[in-house]
Amino acid sequence: MPPSDPPKLWDQLWIDCHLATMAAGETPYGAIRNGALAVKDGRIAWVGERASLHGAPETLAADVVTCGGAWLTPGLVDCHTHLVFAGNRAREFEQRLEGASYEEIARAGGGILSTVKATREASLDQLVLSGEGRLCRLMEEGVTTAEIKSGYGLDTKTEVKMLKAAAELGERLPVRVQRTFLGAHAIAPEYGKDRNGYLNLVVSEMIPAVAREGLAHAVDGFCEEIAFTREEMARVFKAAQEAGLAIKLHAEQLSNQQGAALAAELGALSADHLEHLDEAGVAAMAKAGTVAVLLPGAFYYLRETKLPPVAALREAGVPMALATDANPGSSPILSPLTILNMGCTLFGLTPEEALAGMTREGARALGLAPETGTLEVGKAADFCRWRIDEPAELAYWVGANPLEQTVFEGNVRPR
Ligand code: NIG
Ligand code: FE
Repeated sequence: MPPSDPPKLWDQLWIDCHLATMAAGETPYGAIRNGALAVKDGRIAWVGERASLHGAPETLAADVVTCGGAWLTPGLVDCHTHLVFAGNRAREFEQRLEGASYEEIARAGGGILSTVKATREASLDQLVLSGEGRLCRLMEEGVTTAEIKSGYGLDTKTEVKMLKAAAELGERLPVRVQRTFLGAHAIAPEYGKDRNGYLNLVVSEMIPAVAREGLAHAVDGFCEEIAFTREEMARVFKAAQEAGLAIKLHAEQLSNQQGAALAAELGALSADHLEHLDEAGVAAMAKAGTVAVLLPGAFYYLRETKLPPVAALREAGVPMALATDANPGSSPILSPLTILNMGCTLFGLTPEEALAGMTREGARALGLAPETGTLEVGKAADFCRWRIDEPAELAYWVGANPLEQTVFEGNVRPR
């Protein structure tokens, strides 16, 4: 019998690459030039300089991938999307360009409520199909984890249908889908001025149902003059926490409601948007370690002028994530790479902060930091291979997609 080869240590070994590990630390981008990364059983098994590998690559791994000098980064994490919905709001886009504001359109029964009407009428299959097309766009630019919110149902049946559609997307496609219940997005039209009636439905029926069926990881809300007050959100959060779900909030997008401070005090994973966040809000978020999710797509699309207090957030050490907010009204944007650029050009993030925002901090905003978001041993092998000379290029180009390959949980994703 011929002697059999000793078993290989790893399944794959990626060499001839530079790594932007995005691990927090001293080096910009957590970079390792001339690095190597090993995968075993879908997880990252080794990361370091190629020169410190303890043997010839072929002796260490069953499959050796030579990257020709490409950069590897963590797979992108889009931690705030509303990807599941029906219809579109292109007509509203026209109205806004004719002078109507987002709030005026919402108050007149358009806006979120027009998407609610279309989403109620759509079947589960229709929602999955249209959501799939949009999620594929994100994946084409390197997304390996996407959060998807409900919130265009506003009745139990449709909220559940949306979350089931999101779950189905995570099963069909090689991407991690994190689901968030957003029943407190707007008052359902059939409740008219009966805010309490609708809130009762959210806290006593929807949240328990969603929790019971394991349909959501977190509960979100829209704290705004045109949506819910701080006190109303406190009620929703209480019900969420009683049901064992994490919380997060659309806060301070169009006005200052002190929603972010409320969310932070209650231990929220994140407060999102934050254009009108004040000093007290920044301090509360810093104290609690709540992630600030910045959404330049909505800022751009609504042609807002008030910038989120990025310098104050940075100064206070609040972790900053960056996401597409992909939705039919305020951010019909399916390009995470464009959002990296907008994070820099519109909000003044550094390209490194932008990339950290869509990897490490995005994962943290979803409670997934132990699982993904950096190239570190033990995490899921979620990473992208980019044809770039330096990592800042990811935020620099608009409309160039330098993605060569994506690996999700150790499997190379078909293109
Ligand atoms: O994140 N702010 C509320 N929710 C979405 C917009 C939803 C919509 O207009 O359909 C957002 O911007
Ligand atoms: Fe949103």
